[in-house]
Amino acid sequence: MTELQEVQITEEKPLLPGQTPEMAKTHSVETPYGSVTFTVYGTPKPKRPAILTYHDVGLNYKSCFQPLFQSGDMQEIIQNFVRVHVDAPGMEEGAPVYPVGYQYPSLDQLADTIPCILQYLNFSSIIGVGVGAGAYILSRYALNHQDTVEGLVLINIDPNAKGWMDWAAHKLTGLTSSIPEMILAHLFSQEELSGNSELIQKYRNIISHAPNLENIELYWNSYNNRRDLNFERGGDITLKCPVMLVVGDQAPHEDAVVECNSKLDPTQTSFLKMADSGGQPQLTQPGKLTEAFKYFLQGMGYMASSCMTRLSRSRTASLTSAASIDGSRSRARTLSQSSESGTLPSGTPGHTMEVSC
Ligand code: BEZ
Repeated sequence: MTELQEVQITEEKPLLPGQTPEMAKTHSVETPYGSVTFTVYGTPKPKRPAILTYHDVGLNYKSCFQPLFQSGDMQEIIQNFVRVHVDAPGMEEGAPVYPVGYQYPSLDQLADTIPCILQYLNFSSIIGVGVGAGAYILSRYALNHQDTVEGLVLINIDPNAKGWMDWAAHKLTGLTSSIPEMILAHLFSQEELSGNSELIQKYRNIISHAPNLENIELYWNSYNNRRDLNFERGGDITLKCPVMLVVGDQAPHEDAVVECNSKLDPTQTSFLKMADSGGQPQLTQPGKLTEAFKYFLQGMGYMASSCMTRLSRSRTASLTSAASIDGSRSRARTLSQSSESGTLPSGTPGHTMEVSC
């Protein structure tokens, strides 16, 4: 494993009075499937996993995760964790375009590059946060390296390979739509796309004018050629760690995430369907997602209830975890949230939250 490049940058987020800037350091490691670039924010915290993110097709770590990680309430979470934001090969800022015929890694091979990153950083465990293709990659990694994954937040995961019907539809769409439009339809709901909000205009512009569009197409092809993850409730192929599945109400992948929920261990899985969030809840509802992420971490014993925001407490959040900020953890899954009209049964692992805004 050879380090290719190290760049030190200071993050762009405006600082609150008294805050010092957190350093972000970008690294590249050579892996059996080519060079992979990742950016580390913060410093490792003793006895705590790193938060490792993996972005979706058409995006990079910044365009996928910056609004979430820079949202106000997220700051009290991230000060307790080092973050590793992976860019899929060829998606990092300034990436050169791969030559014609370049053999881009499959999603399974991309999952196999994660151990190289963790070994390079000398990190032993992670909490993964992935969107779309990134959620698939982190799930595959977790299936192969379950001892190193303490938790997963999977947004818009589709664990199934494309069937022949999907392929036929994909081919037909390809006759009339450009690659950027197909990727936008993967990322956002039809309603959002036809509404053409500022967010949609921004992402349409980013993707259609991307200097590395050929590379993006390669990642897109790998996503469309993914194998079935073959999750089986009660079977051997399943995620063993706490999982928070997230999807926007009426988002393109809603059915796939619902089906995924039905295949995972209900004692380890929480399902968050977010109203009014479109296809990319981490972009449109970072505050809501942060709140759910806090409950998730608290269920794992990583956030003391004193860390909960006034906003969260005033929504009568019911939190019964044996949480402690110093890292002594309980495996009991206690993520729960009440609605305005009354408290959901707390302490019941494996449940659905619907967050309306
Ligand atoms: C972070 O603090 O982890 C972060 C900052 C900017 C972009 C993405 C993540």
